Amino acid sequence: MTQVTIYHNPGCGTSRNTLALIRNAGVEPTVIEYLKTPPTRETLQSLLKQMQMTPRELLREKGTPYTELKLGEPRWTDEQIIDFILAHPILMNRPVVVTPWGVKLCRPSEAVLDILPLPQAGPFAKEDGELVIDSEGRRVPTLPDLPNIDGALFQVPGAERLERVGCSTHAPRILLLYGSLRTRSFSKLLTLEAQRLLNAMGAETRVYSPEGLPLPDGHPEDHPKVLELRDLAAWSEGMVWTSPERHGAMTGIMKAQIDWIPLSIGSVRPTQGKTLAVMEVSGGSQSFNAVNQLRILGRWMRMITIPNQSSVAKAFLEFDEAGRMKPSPYYERVVDVMEELMKFTLLTRDVAPYLVDRYSERRESAEALSKRVNLKSI
Ligand SMILES: Cc1cc2nc3c(=O)[nH]c(=O)nc-3n(C[C@H](O)[C@H](O)[C@H](O)COP(=O)(O)O)c2cc1C
Repeated sequence: MTQVTIYHNPGCGTSRNTLALIRNAGVEPTVIEYLKTPPTRETLQSLLKQMQMTPRELLREKGTPYTELKLGEPRWTDEQIIDFILAHPILMNRPVVVTPWGVKLCRPSEAVLDILPLPQAGPFAKEDGELVIDSEGRRVPTLPDLPNIDGALFQVPGAERLERVGCSTHAPRILLLYGSLRTRSFSKLLTLEAQRLLNAMGAETRVYSPEGLPLPDGHPEDHPKVLELRDLAAWSEGMVWTSPERHGAMTGIMKAQIDWIPLSIGSVRPTQGKTLAVMEVSGGSQSFNAVNQLRILGRWMRMITIPNQSSVAKAFLEFDEAGRMKPSPYYERVVDVMEELMKFTLLTRDVAPYLVDRYSERRESAEALSKRVNLKSI
């Protein structure tokens, strides 16, 4: 059982909050009401020594005979100040707390957490409503330099929140999209090469055919091709987008597929936090326009777009009659990109909800909640 002692004044809010915080850590402390039972000279000296404080630093001015006794004058020695405290215990500031981790004058009350590093039983708010411990049992930081920040929603990113990295053991689920309807489409052939590589690397893959997908808003969203695409997006943990370059841009076929995937369906965001690799094929001698645009689109869809990418120039030279990609530095680059996609997917999939959790959105939902609660009470 953890031994904790509090020199407590039940008439003081800070003292009451400190006592409640100790109890919220599952500890029932020894409560010494020092106004009724003042510490002895030896105890007081020992407490001061452990706190590395001078007697003067422990003095309380408000609501005490401090002014009357002229204690602000420098002529009083440490011994004399201690005499005053023993004669008028109200002069001792409160609460002083003793734990196995240290001794501290706990002002503000949450300072007790510095010397009581035990898990808190649940959320804790001070008597005035200020949240000190959040619903996950973590200390809410006080941020005097950041007056515009809501401390209850501010989070200090912590390695302990990333503990789930690599926990899942199922095959990473990768959806591959391409942006062409041509019979011999090099973006499709490149997609199929990527699929073979991903399968060999242990992924579970699906390739979506854009054939038959209506233009965005050209049909109600219950169209079977739209439903198929949305289901696959929801199923996936990572994606590969491969577009041809046409007129210096990704194709409309490519963009239409992304436009059919909403940023959010109710509270679910089908792309947010998922990994993405981008590739393109082109007829010219070199180009990166489409991959650059796909990268912007990936960011827009809140995806973790991996650094590596592939751009296969003069694509008509890179595939054989059977539709297989010929050996080349381009091919090796595709291997690199898929390898990187797998690593990023394994690394991030279990912690994706935490990675994409945003302060501004926590604030928005807290506001929406408070509006709803207020509405109900009207
Ligand atoms: C209308 C049109 C515009 C094109 N614009 C470009 C271009 O801007 N830059 C480029 O390098 N290739 C361009 N190309 C070549 C295509 O990128 C190339 O044919 C590619 O293989 C098409 O992809 P797909 O085989 O998957 O259909 C264009 C082709 C067409 C038909």
